[in-house]
Amino acid sequence: MINILIFVVLVVVIIVAEKFRRSSTSLLFKSSSFSSTKRAEKSISKVVSGDAKFLLEDKLPADLSRETIPKHVAVIMDGNRRWAKKKGLEPMLGHEAGARSLVKLLPLCCNWGIKVLTVYAFSTENWIRPRVEVDFLMKLFEKILKEELEFFMRQEVRVSVIGDSSKLPRSLQKIITTVTETTKRNSSCHLIMAVNYSGRTDIVQACQSISNKVKDGLIKSEDIDESLINHELETKCTEFPYPDLLIRTSGELRLSNFLMWQLAYTELYFDESFWPDFGETQFVQALHSFQRRQRRFGGQDEDKLVCES
Ligand SMILES: *[C@@H]1O[C@H](CO)[C@@H](O)[C@H](O)[C@H]1NC(C)=O
Ligand SMILES: *[C@@H]1O[C@H](CO)[C@@H](O)[C@H](O)[C@H]1NC(C)=O
Repeated sequence: MINILIFVVLVVVIIVAEKFRRSSTSLLFKSSSFSSTKRAEKSISKVVSGDAKFLLEDKLPADLSRETIPKHVAVIMDGNRRWAKKKGLEPMLGHEAGARSLVKLLPLCCNWGIKVLTVYAFSTENWIRPRVEVDFLMKLFEKILKEELEFFMRQEVRVSVIGDSSKLPRSLQKIITTVTETTKRNSSCHLIMAVNYSGRTDIVQACQSISNKVKDGLIKSEDIDESLINHELETKCTEFPYPDLLIRTSGELRLSNFLMWQLAYTELYFDESFWPDFGETQFVQALHSFQRRQRRFGGQDEDKLVCES
C-alpha cells in the first residue's frame, strides 16, 4: 500500500516537473514569435527572474583581482533596437532582451564586489521615439521593478532611480517609490537606474539648489566646492558617486549626456556587441581591460580622491 502511494506521488511529481520545464522553455522562445505587446511583457519578467535566480551563486572569475574590482560601474545599454532589427524583430523585443541582460548582470556585480551599478535606462532625449515604443518601455520598467522586488530583497540590493520621474506614468511612479523605499536599507549592492535622466540637467538643478541656499543665507558662495556640488547631484544617493568604469555597448563612442560631472576620471570601455548580447564573457573582458589600466586621476593620489567622495 505504502509502496503504491509513493509510486503515485513520484509519478505526480515527475508530471508536474515536466509541465513546469516545458512551460519555462516555451516562455523563453515565446518572445521570438512576438504577437502582442501584452504577451511579450508577460514573458520577459518570468524569463528575467529565472535567469537571475540561476546566477545567484556565481563567484569572481579566477583571472580577475578582487582588490582592483571597480566599486562603481556605469553602463550605457545601447543597441537594443539594432539587435532586434538585425534579427527582423520588433524594437520592443530588443528592449525586452536588453532587460534580460541587465538582470543577468546585476547578481554578478553583487557577487563580485561591485558596489554600485548605474544604468542609463532612458534619457530625456528618448521621448522622441515612437509612442508605442515609449509606452512599452515604461511598462517594461514597471514590470521589472515589480517582478524583481523579491529578488532585490533576497540579494540585498538597494534600488534607486535618478532623473526626473515627476511626469512618468502614475503607476510607474508608484512602483518606483515602493521599490526604492523597501530596498533603501539594503547594502550588499546598489542598482541606480537613470530614467528620464540628463547629465546637464543634473548639474543645472544642483546650481539652482545651491544658489537658493546662498540666497537664503544657509551657505556662503565661498563654501561652494566639489564636495558641496556632489551633495546636490542626483548621485548623492551613493557614497561612490564617481563611476570607476563606464561601459557602452554597440560600438557608439559617445557619452550622450549621461553622468557628465561624475565621469570626469572614469575609465571608458566600448564594446561592439549590442546590449542584449552583452553577457558575462563581455563583462569579464571589460573588467579585465579596467584592471590592466593604471589609474592616475590626472596625477592626484587615488586614495585621496576616494576619501573625498
Ligand atoms: C523628462 O525630464 C525633463 C527634464 O527634467 C522634463 O522637463 C520632462 O517633463 C520629463 N518628461 C517626462 C515625460 O517625464
Ligand atoms: C535589506 O532590507 C531589509 C528591509 O529594509 C533589512 O531588514 C535588511 O537588513 C537589509 N539587508 C542588508 C544586508 O542591508
